[in-house]
Amino acid sequence: MVGMGTCGRAAGGMKVFDALDQLLQADKVKAELEQTGCIGMCSQEVLVDVQLPGRTRVLYGNIKPIKEKHLKILEQIVKEHLIGGEVVKEHVLGQIRPENGEKPFDDIPYYEELSFNSAQERIVLRNCGSMDPESIGEYCARDGYKALTKVLKEMTPEEVVDEMKLSGLRGRGGAGFPTGLKWGFAAMSRSDVKYMICNADEGDPGAFMDRSVLEGDPHSVLEGMAIGGYAMGAHTGYIYVRAEYPLAIKRLKIAIAQAGERGLLGKNILKTGFDFEIFIKQGAGAFVCGEETALIASIEGKRGMPRPKPPFPANHGLWGKPTNINNVETLANVAPIILKGGAWYAGFGTEKSKGTKVFALAGKISNPGLIEVPMGKPLREIIYDIGGGCPGGKAFKAVQTGGPSGGCIPASIIDTPVDYESLAQAGAIMGSGGMVVMDENTCMVEMARYFLNFTQEESCGKCVPCRVGTKRMLEILERIVEGKGKEGDVELLKDLGEDVKAASLCGLGQTAPNPVLSTIRYFQDEYDAHIHEKRCPAGVCKALFQYRVEDPFCKMCGLCVRKCPVGAIQGGPKKIAKIIDSKCVKCGVCIEVCPFEAITQVDTHEKSET
Ligand SMILES: Cc1cc2nc3c(=O)[nH]c(=O)nc-3n(C[C@H](O)[C@H](O)[C@H](O)COP(=O)(O)O)c2cc1C
Repeated sequence: MVGMGTCGRAAGGMKVFDALDQLLQADKVKAELEQTGCIGMCSQEVLVDVQLPGRTRVLYGNIKPIKEKHLKILEQIVKEHLIGGEVVKEHVLGQIRPENGEKPFDDIPYYEELSFNSAQERIVLRNCGSMDPESIGEYCARDGYKALTKVLKEMTPEEVVDEMKLSGLRGRGGAGFPTGLKWGFAAMSRSDVKYMICNADEGDPGAFMDRSVLEGDPHSVLEGMAIGGYAMGAHTGYIYVRAEYPLAIKRLKIAIAQAGERGLLGKNILKTGFDFEIFIKQGAGAFVCGEETALIASIEGKRGMPRPKPPFPANHGLWGKPTNINNVETLANVAPIILKGGAWYAGFGTEKSKGTKVFALAGKISNPGLIEVPMGKPLREIIYDIGGGCPGGKAFKAVQTGGPSGGCIPASIIDTPVDYESLAQAGAIMGSGGMVVMDENTCMVEMARYFLNFTQEESCGKCVPCRVGTKRMLEILERIVEGKGKEGDVELLKDLGEDVKAASLCGLGQTAPNPVLSTIRYFQDEYDAHIHEKRCPAGVCKALFQYRVEDPFCKMCGLCVRKCPVGAIQGGPKKIAKIIDSKCVKCGVCIEVCPFEAITQVDTHEKSET
């Protein structure tokens, strides 16, 4: 089995798959070669799993197809493991705990014993990375569509809604609204036509949870939609998915066709009289189209712009009909809740934030990837135990949770439990689960500028507070990072931020100031240093530093002169290097290549004083 989600493919999964195919044919090995989605350990891609009859499944990691040596590893795996029955220990990550009496291998850790997995609880990601997402047979073999069968044959729609209420599941798309309650509203709306929409727009920078679920386990989302449709009396579903997710779209199309062929979607499902069809609507990748009313407008063929609520979609949604919208992850939770019970699900997490949550760990983190943990897990465990801290032993500085709508949590409160309430108290949000980790070399003002630039560009422009407010805030931030900040800028940012939050039409504007306000709350000293001392403490803002050659250390080798991409260094051989500031683009190549550490970064004002 080869990891072939987008992360696996980006690391060369398709080449590994082809190479393995050839090796198996050459050695005439009788084996089934399959693709699978992302198991979460993105940093270890390409992953290759091997299972012999009667033995446990073994995971090999970091198989890059680019170099000869990796092809040798594949040969070794085929010869020693597949043919010889012995695990190639030096490349093994772990083995999956036996479920059906398979015999484990000695001295190989179980997958869940690896530090990346030890704190995880996989409900949403139950099948991701363990089965072929293009095979409905494999999904069914893992209890797939059992929950749909159960609701259609044994439960009333009211009982389904009650079970969802009991689970305490809250919407994973960001707002955290109780799913059972929302389904109940849609069920109560009187109409002959209702719609069930799956929101797979996922626009947050750094977030890839929904994509991975769609790529790794598309049937779980279809099953959740069909169950929801039954509960609320909808017979048509739409999946709104951004066109930038071609693999997810391909696998969804395959899954919809397979489910239709097996009578699990379409007319008279499982001969119970219930009809449910699912269509895919591709979005053009606008962040605001993830907002539910903008999303509805986009499906209707209009420009994706939000409208005021009420009326809420549960009463007046797609084409004016009652509509329920749920996020991908929310829907992937539904089947296990129905099968194992709402009370079982509510056993995970905290009092007000039940269940588990999938996070996409990205940024300055040693083990980037996808994780699923029970709600309430302290951030420290996520960053250090699972994520392995920041690479290169650098200090952890902060983490941005909830994408551009979220806020940043500094190292000083790293013991914050990750649940809806605690994150909100810290000035951040859970959002949809993006976690962008920052180390000591991150400038928090530049970080706020980056996120605000994103939301400003993605603002649809319909309401003035968002359209003009985010623009003015961005101008101030741009001034500050360029060293042109003025007395009173921080106060102005706070004022404007509060106004944009209070007066914007939709969630995009209402949350856009969060990265700015949270960085001011925890890192005002950095704003002050930029504004008053014209200094960037993290040494990131290019206008605020220059490079200088320390004469006594320069050995006149001329390496920096040769490597500078813009010819901004004069000197060597036999001449001390000199940086021409007007030409320098501050790419840092000279610092990287100098073997004598003779080039340093100094504050701009410091240099002009000397
Ligand atoms: C600007 C903006 C972007 C959003 N983007 C997404 C998104 O990409 N995916 C998503 O599921 N929800 C997104 N939401 C939240 C949705 O509007 C909606 O609350 C959610 O899909 C409801 O499903 P849930 O209750 O299952 O979370 C966004 C909201 C806003 C304001």
